[in-house]
Amino acid sequence: METWSGFYKRPLEERRRLVAEHAGLDEEEAGLLFAGSALPVGLAERFVENVVGVFPLPLGIALHFVVDGSPVLVPMAVEESSVVAAASHAAKWARATGGFRTEVMDPVTIGQVEVRDLADPRAAAEVVRREAAAWRVVLDASIPAMVERGGGVRDVVPRIVGDRLVVHLHLDTRDAMGANVTNRLCEALAPLVVGAVGGRPGLRILSNLATERLATARCTVPAEAVGGPRVVRAMVEANDLARIDPYRAATHNKGILNGVDPVVVATGNDWRAVAAGAHAYAALDGAYRGLTEYVATPEGDLEASVTLPLSLGTVGGVTSLHPVARVALKVLGDPDARRLAAVVASVGLAQNLAAVRALSGEGIQRGHMALHARNLALQAGLAGEAAEAAARRMVEEGRVNATRARELASD
Ligand code: HMG
Repeated sequence: METWSGFYKRPLEERRRLVAEHAGLDEEEAGLLFAGSALPVGLAERFVENVVGVFPLPLGIALHFVVDGSPVLVPMAVEESSVVAAASHAAKWARATGGFRTEVMDPVTIGQVEVRDLADPRAAAEVVRREAAAWRVVLDASIPAMVERGGGVRDVVPRIVGDRLVVHLHLDTRDAMGANVTNRLCEALAPLVVGAVGGRPGLRILSNLATERLATARCTVPAEAVGGPRVVRAMVEANDLARIDPYRAATHNKGILNGVDPVVVATGNDWRAVAAGAHAYAALDGAYRGLTEYVATPEGDLEASVTLPLSLGTVGGVTSLHPVARVALKVLGDPDARRLAAVVASVGLAQNLAAVRALSGEGIQRGHMALHARNLALQAGLAGEAAEAAARRMVEEGRVNATRARELASD
């Protein structure tokens, strides 16, 4: 399809056909993506404990994304109305200036090995620096397949935290999210460290504050796309508030995660890890801040960027086991872990831009409520044009609620 404009106005079957054709899905893959219940309970039992069923979420496709010069369709699993529309909306603004540009670090996870009861943590840190190269060799020898793929231990770094030594293991896990292998190597490293420096072993676990795995996405939003330089100025001011007020920053960052989490979920990745990392990164200098940077250019356009720690995998774990996640990755063009991080950061930025644009102009309720009204009309049993008409009426009346939707359905 040349352009995806108007996609949302097409009937469901046609939307499915267009996505399947674009991603080259075969019949089985299309069946899995569109089934609505493609995770058999028997398979779900292999993921978690005490399984009694599965919990489906809507899967939408965000449009108009161009990331590092390549167009991409983005599957988003999310229950909140207006999120997919908003991401597509802002991606269209960015597309007008070439789309999102990203910088993504190598996929290096951080594992922590804590040592307690040391008489002199500083001297212990010196020992760690001396032994680091030898420990890297020992640990790499225990993960030959990872090393073969180009991954492996990149560094062993001592930190002093209070009266303790915390040794950081930097492990390049290539296209795996890497939690299990990182934890395994932390457990292997701990006796080596304690053997060399003494003390008592403490925790051995990865850190979700993945500062060795940052992804930055940037874009330029033309002033005319958002209503002119005055709106751009208001958006910069809104972003400034999120930089200095933690109450606003929490909501601002929730808006970024509105874009990030649905892609992380759709690809079978760990959204709690990503959310924990994002919030910790937002507080890295001691104050909790908004994660985006906005600058108005001399021409009045908006330069926006976001940097996020993103531990994402495209192989192994649920990513490979979950049938829908596998097909979602195919729709994304079978990305490696760094490309997936580039797309996820771009969606987070787009989502934030759409929300801040709405907040800086007419307010969030108009767009959000229009889509919410449509959902309420569908829930009340209306369909097609009747649902659209009821939604429009509820918005015009300023009465967007389930009771009014039911009244209109029974008219
Ligand atoms: P609009 O101006 O009516 O849209 O915006 P438009 O008709 O000009 O269409 C522009 C594009 O938006 C379309 O382009 C679509 O891609 C998309 P096309 O493909 O046609 O060439 N679009 C839609 N996609 C699917 N279904 C639709 C639809 N409508 C437009 N029905 C819109 C309407 C809702 C997009 C806009 O008002 C908006 O972006 N609002 C922001 C909504 C939002 O951010 N929602 C997230 C939830 S709110 C929240 O929890 C976060 C928050 O607290 C964060 C914060 O405080 O920072 C707000």
